[in-house]
Amino acid sequence: MMEPITVVKGFKDILPEESRNWQKIEQFARKIFGDFGFLEIRLPILEKTELFTRGIGDTTDIVEKEMYTFSDRGGERLTLRPEATASVLRAYIEHNLYNRNAVTRLFTIGPMFRRERPQKGRYRQFHQINVEVLGADDPRIDAEVILMLVHFLRGVGLGNLNLDINSLGCSECRAIFRERVIAFLRDTEGDLCADCRRRLHANPLRVFDCKNETCARIIEDAPNILDFICNDCRNHFERVQSSLELFGLPYRINHRMVRGLDYYTRTTFEVTIPDMGAQNAVVGGGRYDGLVRDLGGPDIPGIGFAVGFERLMALLPEEQNEPPAEPLLFVAALGDKAQEYAFSLCNRLRLRGVQAEMDYTGKSLKSQMKKANKLSSPYTLILGEREMESGQGELRDMRSSSQRSIPLDRLEDTLMELGK
Ligand code: HAM
Repeated sequence: MMEPITVVKGFKDILPEESRNWQKIEQFARKIFGDFGFLEIRLPILEKTELFTRGIGDTTDIVEKEMYTFSDRGGERLTLRPEATASVLRAYIEHNLYNRNAVTRLFTIGPMFRRERPQKGRYRQFHQINVEVLGADDPRIDAEVILMLVHFLRGVGLGNLNLDINSLGCSECRAIFRERVIAFLRDTEGDLCADCRRRLHANPLRVFDCKNETCARIIEDAPNILDFICNDCRNHFERVQSSLELFGLPYRINHRMVRGLDYYTRTTFEVTIPDMGAQNAVVGGGRYDGLVRDLGGPDIPGIGFAVGFERLMALLPEEQNEPPAEPLLFVAALGDKAQEYAFSLCNRLRLRGVQAEMDYTGKSLKSQMKKANKLSSPYTLILGEREMESGQGELRDMRSSSQRSIPLDRLEDTLMELGK
């Protein structure tokens, strides 16, 4: 035998027993987001590389190290999207969606690609449920987005979660903070990891995110961004908090949370799960008031979040793994004539919306009944040569083990009745 080809490292197959649960979560997301006025947008997974270098920031880990970027056969630089926000905004600008409504609420669900070191909860292809609100800078919108998120997470069964919030200020107050961070790090510059040292002047906030132990220790004593944000940003952040309190949403202020993407302004937030291990962030999000403009659109504010689908699924209780729906009918057919009849009956029933199964191998009745039991279909129809001759099939109720004869010409309607 030839050696089989395996899946790409860090990529994962979602098998049928899992995908049913994925569908349920997706349906639930669609329902909740719909209640809050969101519409779905479906986007390509491949974009021009520049969208992400401009959008996410060219000194972020994602852009520097993790993107799947290549030149296609025409020499164009393309990237498998590492996140959805930049793509949503690209489409929003490209189709002038801002002309339709003052506020646009969009969600999208799909795969993202980051070439990170794979580990539990971290994949190179993963999926996000991504939400964006464009056209509103009102702090109540921030709270509303977070409220919808928590409502969704609780609804799928995640009661025990931590919501961390922070404000990263606007371009003006953050510029002052940046200078202070650079000044703070100057004395310890030599101890920082190579990445942080290299990015210190271009992007000092990245040190807050660095996983290196020395960098993490150094940054512990760094200035607090909330001491630097301007009055407008402070008022905005306070309104976000009071609106969260209005809904009784518990939160923690985490002034060190800067997020791994450069586009954030003002409110940022993360949902983490206690005891989940290193990859404990299930959701990340925040406001990005300059991003539409930076991507070539009008000056329109925005806020959003992305739920990590795999991480969410890993947290849901096992018993939610539902068995697949069993067919209503299994047809045990013996002999060529009965097999032909069963083949046509099963497909006629399926065309009318009733799930039916048969065994195409035509094995013994005993072996076919074994299969019927395994499928746990509530009814089994037994069709042999005798039944075909008499024009009567034997319909067995598998639960009560009772059996009755049914004329073949009334079979389909009887089964349709039973399937209701
Ligand atoms: P992010 O924090 O980079 O934000 O990703 C959001 C979530 O995606 C994470 O909290 C995590 O659950 C999941 N995730 C990220 N990387 C991986 C991975 N390698 N494997 C498995 N799951 C992963 C964003 O992507 C922003 N675009 C969110 C956003 C939307 N901000 C505003 N709007």
